[in-house]
Amino acid sequence: MKNIIEINRLNKEFLNPEAERQGESSLKVLKDVSLSVSENEFVTLLGPSGCGKSTLLKLIAGLDATYEGSIFLSGKDLRSNNVPVCYMLQKDCLMPWRTVLSNILMPVEIKKGNLKKAREDIKPLIDEFGLSGFENYLPGKLSGGMRQRVALLRTYLMEGSIMLLDEPFGALDEITRIQMQDWLISVWERHKKTVLFVTHDLDEAIFLSDRVLVMSTRPGTIIKELRIYFARPRSRDMVLDPKFNEYKREILKLLSEG
Ligand SMILES: Nc1ncnc2c1ncn2[C@@H]1O[C@H](COP(=O)(O)OP(=O)(O)OP(=O)(O)O)[C@@H](O)[C@H]1O
Ligand SMILES: [Mg+2]
Repeated sequence: MKNIIEINRLNKEFLNPEAERQGESSLKVLKDVSLSVSENEFVTLLGPSGCGKSTLLKLIAGLDATYEGSIFLSGKDLRSNNVPVCYMLQKDCLMPWRTVLSNILMPVEIKKGNLKKAREDIKPLIDEFGLSGFENYLPGKLSGGMRQRVALLRTYLMEGSIMLLDEPFGALDEITRIQMQDWLISVWERHKKTVLFVTHDLDEAIFLSDRVLVMSTRPGTIIKELRIYFARPRSRDMVLDPKFNEYKREILKLLSEG
C-alpha cells in the first residue's frame, strides 16, 4: 500500500532559554523519529506530555522547516514542496465573533474560493456533523463537543487528504469524549482519509486506530508500534474484550519504562 506520510530519522531541537537553564545549548525535542502512514490508515501517536507530539504535527503541517531528517507527504519532499494538509491544532481556535457557518467556511474564504457554492455543498456535512440548526450560533453558545465538531468540520474542509488531529477531544468530559470517538470513527469509516491522531488517552488510541505508535519521554522517539487487530466497523463492545486490556497493559508497561 502507498505511504502517504513517510518520515525518516527526524530530529528537532529548539534554541531557547529553557534549554540554557537546563545547561544545554538547545532543547532536543524529537530524536530519530521514523514512521509511515499508508493511504486511508488511522494511526495514533501516544506519548507523555512534552514528548514532542504537537511539535511533530507542526513539522508535518509544514509550519516549521527547521528539522533534520526527511518528511515526505504523498511522495513529495516537504523541504521543496508545499503539500496542503488538514490540520487541527490542540486548541479548537474557533473565532468567537464568527458564527458556526462562517468559522467552518474559513478555509474556503482564505483560499478565496466560491463561498456561495461551498455553503450549498456543505449542507449534508453540517447535518452529518450534528450541527444543523446551529449554523448561525456563535461558538460561545455551543457545548464543548459541538465546538469540537465545528473545528473538525473546518479541518475536514481544508485542502488535502491527510488529516492531522492534535488531541481533538482532550478538553472534553468522559461521556462527551466517548460519544465523539464513536461519532468520529463512524464518519471516518464512511469517508476514509489518512489520519495521524494525537492523544494521551489509551482507550481512545486503541479504540480508534489501525496502529498505535508509542513515544518515549522527551526527546521523543517511537519506542513501539502496535497494530490493533480489531475488525471494522468498530463497536464499543471491544473495550470489554480481553484483547483490549492486553493492548492497554502493553502500552502502560512501555510508558512506565519510557
Ligand atoms: N516554539 C517552541 N519553542 C521552544 N520550545 C518549544 C516550542 N514548542 C514546543 N517547545 C518545547 O518542546 C517540548 C515538546 O512540546 P510539545 O508541545 O510538542 O509536546 P506534546 O507532546 O505535544 O505535549 P502535550 O501532550 O502536553 O501536548 C516542550 O518541552 C516544549 O516546551
Ligand atoms: Mg501537544
